[in-house]
Amino acid sequence: MRVVFLGATKGMGRALARRMASRGESLFLLGRSEEELAKSAEDLQVHGAGGDVHWAQCDLLDPAGFPKALEAAESAMGGFDTVVVTAGQFASQEELEGNASLAAQVATVNFTNTMVFCESARQRLLEQSGGTLCVFSSVAGERGRKPVIIYGATKAGLSAYLEGLDHKYRQEGLRVVTVKPGFVRTSMTQGLKPPPFAGDPDEVAETVLHAIDRGTPVVYVPAPWKAVMAIIRRLPRSIMRRVKF
Ligand SMILES: NC(=O)c1ccc[n+]([C@@H]2O[C@H](COP(=O)([O-])OP(=O)(O)OC[C@H]3O[C@@H](n4cnc5c(N)ncnc54)[C@H](OP(=O)(O)O)[C@@H]3O)[C@@H](O)[C@H]2O)c1
Repeated sequence: MRVVFLGATKGMGRALARRMASRGESLFLLGRSEEELAKSAEDLQVHGAGGDVHWAQCDLLDPAGFPKALEAAESAMGGFDTVVVTAGQFASQEELEGNASLAAQVATVNFTNTMVFCESARQRLLEQSGGTLCVFSSVAGERGRKPVIIYGATKAGLSAYLEGLDHKYRQEGLRVVTVKPGFVRTSMTQGLKPPPFAGDPDEVAETVLHAIDRGTPVVYVPAPWKAVMAIIRRLPRSIMRRVKF
């Protein structure tokens, strides 16, 4: 695979990029911090990535930079067949309710600009006769829930967009893999109390790489979250108004 990876500097992205590197895949990193990108590139080289790992700056708050970042990846790797987006931003419902500009930023990063980035990636993948677009959404997008109303809404929009892409472009060779993590212990969830079925980045990475290999359209990680969300999706509003989750 020739993989463009937005978000490999931390958490689940780092674990997945390492797993890809250890299989000898070629990687091109995108992210907002040059220092973190350089460190991650070196780390992936040590883990066995195929060829040199290059990188370019790409901030989800700056969509004007997306085409240039993807062009840099194309010229460094002679094209690419896989794009992975794990980058995202979380803030608690309390923080977001009290801070309209932070709420707008989280919506911009997680939905608007991720969608704009994916549009650019989609066009390039289809021009090169298809490939895989793997994007991390969240179980938080499956139901309006009290602790994640705003963050969850950004992921609901992202999941709906990715589902539509799968419906429209699968037959043209675009394989869209939507990852829906439950609670995973990373810097994003540091300080939060892990619920039952909390997972670790390494187990997520293994499942997601398998899903990328197979082109699985939707993958829940860790796996028990699929059943948990099947139940939560069916709960009536009268119960959702009473419960805390
Ligand atoms: N952890 C969970 O329980 C959980 C649950 C459901 C969904 N998710 C989703 O899964 C994905 C990965 O989460 P994680 O827990 O692995 O997160 P993480 O450890 O906090 O890593 C987040 C990544 O996003 C990058 N990033 C943040 N803002 C960015 C921006 N404006 N432009 C470019 N890159 C940016 C970070 O780069 P820097 O190195 O520059 O900070 C970092 O590489 C996210 O989309 C998250 O919403 C996580």
